Amino acid sequence: MDHFKYKNGHLYAEDVPVEKIANDFGTPLYIYSYATLIRHFKAYEESFKSIKHLTCYALKANSNSTIVKIASKEGCGADVVSGGELYKALKNGISPKKIVYAGVGKTKDEIAFAINKGILMFNVESLDELLQINDVAKSLKKQAPIALRINPDIDPQTHPYISTGLKKHKFGIPIEDALEHFKIAQSLANTKVLGIHMHIGSQLTNVLPFVDALKRILKLKYDLKNLGIEIDYLDIGGGIGINYNDEKPPHPSELSNHILPMLKNLDITLILEPGRSIVGNAGILVTKTLYLKKGDGKEFIIVDAAMNDLIRPSIYGAYHRIEPVKKTKRNTILADVVGPVCESGDFLAKDREIKKVNKGELIAVMSAGAYGFSMASNYNSRPRPAEVLVKGDNNYLIRKRETFRDLIKGEIIPDFI
Ligand code: LLP
Repeated sequence: MDHFKYKNGHLYAEDVPVEKIANDFGTPLYIYSYATLIRHFKAYEESFKSIKHLTCYALKANSNSTIVKIASKEGCGADVVSGGELYKALKNGISPKKIVYAGVGKTKDEIAFAINKGILMFNVESLDELLQINDVAKSLKKQAPIALRINPDIDPQTHPYISTGLKKHKFGIPIEDALEHFKIAQSLANTKVLGIHMHIGSQLTNVLPFVDALKRILKLKYDLKNLGIEIDYLDIGGGIGINYNDEKPPHPSELSNHILPMLKNLDITLILEPGRSIVGNAGILVTKTLYLKKGDGKEFIIVDAAMNDLIRPSIYGAYHRIEPVKKTKRNTILADVVGPVCESGDFLAKDREIKKVNKGELIAVMSAGAYGFSMASNYNSRPRPAEVLVKGDNNYLIRKRETFRDLIKGEIIPDFI
């Protein structure tokens, strides 16, 4: 996280004081560091350069057009999960031939859109969906490239809401049904089997679940070969965690050190779908203290950012470090940092020891670049925050703050009212 650092007691985003950016654009405000993004994209490229690979940035982590365009310029493809994400990936210059499309509920229209654009492959999550893709492709007189997403039944040892590779989860095809499903896929006239996909979960802080899952997938690849089904792409999903507090997530090179030996002598292209590890620590959320209030044994620091801006603490109990934008030598207090939304679950930090802050002062919610803005909503009719990208000593507004007018965009009041 070294591009958000203190200089003379002031928090900087690269070479720009956070306070200056907040004064220029208001709060709450997302600020991203360009240098951090580039470092993370390059870490993947560097770690996997010895084999054929494609890094498909997972747009769900943060699909701001500027960030997607940076991914595109760094040579990445995209992992998309909706027609909207596919649109944004294409619009920002990602070649369709570098786009993989996952998600358990693709609609007919979304499938047709992706086939017409010529994406690299669908990561298919069920037999029903496979048949639907075949039908849509037939009606378009095309062949749809597919991988089957296999659920390897591996516990990724992460938060239950963001683990996806166990039998009980809705994702993918159970590994014991995989051969049968591949045989069916192979027999369909309008689908072409290209790959195997897996994604076992998010915020993984250990590489072993990847290794265990990959072992199962490689055994499947071997069994498929014996059936005459060749696999060109192995897509191992995303999931590498980041340091929110004191986790020690693996660097992409640690993942590559573990898995590249397993892929030796295989003529495949490896696909990776990182989201959080690219953008999570490249972003912070800056918010202003509105009020202070004494609670029962703790204080409430009421700030102008809320669960609608960053929902991770509310729904996963996620921990985000809270740092003052200007360091002080004040005492530490026990506090909840809460937003203005009318929900008890509206907090950014709970029972946290933090340095006392005064009304009007700015604080930064760290590691907020992934699943921050992308999960933001207008709940309580709150306009969503602005987003700024910093590069060196320059900063650029990459999304305007929403206005009240934006809140009623698209709403229609029938004449009789
Ligand atoms: N590929 C697939 C198929 C996925 O489902 C995901 C994330 C990714 C790639 C990217 O995973 P990452 O590298 O970011 O871990 N909202 C939650 C995270 C949900 C992740 C969903 N899938 C959070 O805020 O923690």
